[in-house]
Amino acid sequence: MQYERFKLQRSLPFWDLVGLIDPVGIVRAVDLGCGTGELTASAAVRLGVSEMVGVDRSPSMLAAARAFVSDVVSVEAGDIAEWTSAGDRDLVLANASLQWVGDHPAVLRRWTAALRPGGQIAVQVPANADHPSHLASAHVATLEPFVSAFDDGPPPDPVEVNVLKVEEYTAVLHDLGFAEPHVRLQVYPHVLPSSNSVVEWTKGTSLTRFFAALPDELHEPFVEAYRSELLARIGDREPYLFAFKRILMWGTSTGGVD
Ligand SMILES: C[S@@+](CC[C@H](N)C(=O)[O-])C[C@H]1O[C@@H](n2cnc3c(N)ncnc32)[C@H](O)[C@@H]1O
Repeated sequence: MQYERFKLQRSLPFWDLVGLIDPVGIVRAVDLGCGTGELTASAAVRLGVSEMVGVDRSPSMLAAARAFVSDVVSVEAGDIAEWTSAGDRDLVLANASLQWVGDHPAVLRRWTAALRPGGQIAVQVPANADHPSHLASAHVATLEPFVSAFDDGPPPDPVEVNVLKVEEYTAVLHDLGFAEPHVRLQVYPHVLPSSNSVVEWTKGTSLTRFFAALPDELHEPFVEAYRSELLARIGDREPYLFAFKRILMWGTSTGGVD
């Protein structure tokens, strides 16, 4: 899986996020957008959780995650945009998944409603929509032959459209009853072998939305047009410092959200 190629770099923010969680007394936890489940299972061990449910909508991710099912870990198909529960969870965890859905205040309200009073929320989202790796693909999507091949125009960047500012997340969490939410922007300095490595990274992440909307024969031409546009913007460097901005947020619920 292309997505798996940079899993070491991707795991760094996950463990920073888990590090924010108070591990005392977490019985029932959920990992929303659990992906391949490897980190879900590791977090369950690290936090001493009794019941960890991984939720994802991707059949291939769920198939991979089933390898980690145990007495503690289970997986379920579901849409994290709509997911909620009846105030019975001690932890709602979501690493690098919330950016795929819209209306974060409403989604975070539903996730908060799943928490018992004193339950914790821990969420990480990328915040790099202004990086050349995103701007270059958005630009290439406006060029021929690609632009005419999209049924409904170039697919928008979910990070740009959906991800809020740090201060907005702080206000949303505070309004949802997290008395002192911890919200921070962190830059992860991923040193990649070369500028070209960014293409390998985005092929498993932000470019997938273009692949889903383009016919197969335009996938490789799109990647090559993207490569030229990206290298024109960031230079052809070895190594390349991929400075990746992410937002981490954590809080303890005081309860009371329906
Ligand atoms: C970047 S991966 C992160 C996976 C995992 N949390 C990790 O840290 O490795 C995002 C995951 O969110 C899932 N996802 C995106 N939108 C979703 C939705 N609306 N409902 C359920 N899962 C979703 C994707 O299928 C994918 O597995």
